[in-house]
Amino acid sequence: MEQQLAKLQTNTIAAIGKTKTINDLKDLEVNILGRKGKLTEILKGVKDLTAEQKPTIGKLANEIKTTLENEFEQKAKKFKLIELEKQLLEEKIDVTEPGIKAAFGHVHPLSQVQKEVEDIFNSMGFSVMDGPEVESEYYNFESLNIPADHPARDMQDTFFIKQAPHKEHGHLVLRTHTSPVQIRTMEASGAPLRIIVPGRVFRYEATDATHDATFDQVEGLMIDKDISLSHLKGVLTEFLSRLFDYQVKIRFRPGYFPFVEPGLEVDFSCRFCAGSGCRVCKKTGWIEFMGAGMVHPNVLKAGGIDSEKYQGWAFGFGLTRLVMMRYNINDIRHLYNGDLRFIKQF
Ligand code: DAH
Repeated sequence: MEQQLAKLQTNTIAAIGKTKTINDLKDLEVNILGRKGKLTEILKGVKDLTAEQKPTIGKLANEIKTTLENEFEQKAKKFKLIELEKQLLEEKIDVTEPGIKAAFGHVHPLSQVQKEVEDIFNSMGFSVMDGPEVESEYYNFESLNIPADHPARDMQDTFFIKQAPHKEHGHLVLRTHTSPVQIRTMEASGAPLRIIVPGRVFRYEATDATHDATFDQVEGLMIDKDISLSHLKGVLTEFLSRLFDYQVKIRFRPGYFPFVEPGLEVDFSCRFCAGSGCRVCKKTGWIEFMGAGMVHPNVLKAGGIDSEKYQGWAFGFGLTRLVMMRYNINDIRHLYNGDLRFIKQF
């Protein structure tokens, strides 16, 4: 039996040495040390030995078992190490390799022009204000001298929010213009004021090349003692001349807006023909630009400003239209549909 055991040890060690995979090793281990393994089989014969033989053989068998267990363990470790090395090689990162370049976006043309507009007005002492896009009927209409039954409401049909109306401020609507921010700023800061308000506005409107249900406006408001329309003319001449880079002329025509009195339509001299008449200005020499006027006393009152002490002017123009003019864009939808083939040109 001693010989049998010694042979088993030598053979097993040799076999362990030859295993190529961890699975082979495990199989071998079961084969030798498992419940039905070769060593176990041999040890079954111990019971037939003499009383003197038993302890020696028993001891030897245990030693062989420990030795073999050790051998198996060592080899298993080797396999694990090889596995680890393989994994390390596969997962290795070459930090010297050039990276993948991140794609840079850029500022949308609408935002580019908005920034220019803000910079020019900033330089003339105007602050840039902001207001909610979901507005109350009160701020969007009533406070701007457009009562519920006023026909001017029809000019600006809007989207209503499904929600019970507020007792004083009425329904919530998507603001139809940036003018409500006039009242909000008057309430918050009082007079004097010099502000512009760029922002998104919404109208219940069929979409075509020149109309969209969403577009951008810029509101302007200047309130102080002794402010007149000549200040408006001066500010607008400076603004448009700087934006378009030529000496612009401004023309006022009478116009109607409930929140101003008198109300004006503002045109500026055509940049393509310098006023002599061309296709762009429809032979008039003028480009229709925006609405403006002297702020109505009712509006000042709604904003908490004493109209005996202060007066001022306001204006509102379409930033979207300005961008279209600036870059000769012939369809408003290009500016809002997010088509990268268009956007990448700016
Ligand atoms: N809120 C007007 C509109 O959206 C534009 C406008 C006209 C604004 C005259 C003004 C103004 O501040 O004085 O059609």
